Amino acid sequence: MADHTRGELVVVATPADLADAAARYVVELARAAIEQRGSFSIALSGGSTPRALHQRLARPPLSAQIDWPKLLVFWSDERWLPPDDHESNFRLARETLLDHVPIPAANIFAVPTVGGTPQAAAATYAATLASHLPDQPPQLDLIVLGMGPDGHTASLFPGQAEPAAPGTALVIAVANAPKPPPDRISFSYRLINAARNVLFLVAGADKAATLHAVLRGPLDQPRLPAQGVFPTHGRLTWLVDAAAASALQR
Ligand code: 6PG
Repeated sequence: MADHTRGELVVVATPADLADAAARYVVELARAAIEQRGSFSIALSGGSTPRALHQRLARPPLSAQIDWPKLLVFWSDERWLPPDDHESNFRLARETLLDHVPIPAANIFAVPTVGGTPQAAAATYAATLASHLPDQPPQLDLIVLGMGPDGHTASLFPGQAEPAAPGTALVIAVANAPKPPPDRISFSYRLINAARNVLFLVAGADKAATLHAVLRGPLDQPRLPAQGVFPTHGRLTWLVDAAAASALQR
């Protein structure tokens, strides 16, 4: 189903089917990017949904289909926690994917969450992205995003500054996030919307009403930050399970 106003919607039956489809999509994009440009840059999402995606990429048959040393790995958001904290998005990716595939450590760009301040880390991470990716704003081949039941994505939350008035920064520090922990680092809309491809992964009935509001309701980005994701020249895909899509099909 192609809703060109808000991206392409792909509905699959179960969370397992969603992880399968997402993993195949990542493999497809990676192979095309590496063939055309010699590398594949991906920003991973946090939360729980990406876990099954990572696990599928980390094991045969799919793990044999990606030229791992050609990947550049970033995070679309990160909690302001040490990288070994059990709530760290980096730790989630390390345990479920990065420890199992041969990506050079030099190609893994964790958000610097140790020492300094979230504001300084955001500026440093923006410089890291700019120095390793083409174009201005830096263009990632793929940004993976989730969506919360409140319509947040990455660490762009309802009622906060970036959704209300998007700035020119590539990466922002977020305080008082309603989803703990309160301090986070997040890609901005400017960076997200510069991507070649953005893939939303949304599963679960608890997101059905919000997904309907985001995809079918009036635009209200400050209240539904996920609505602000619309790549300027890239491709937007919403990959959702039947439970999350249940309000769309009434
Ligand atoms: C984070 C995530 C966040 C997440 C959504 C969906 O750091 O918390 O990046 O934006 O993607 O909250 O989370 P689930 O996948 O757990 O539903």
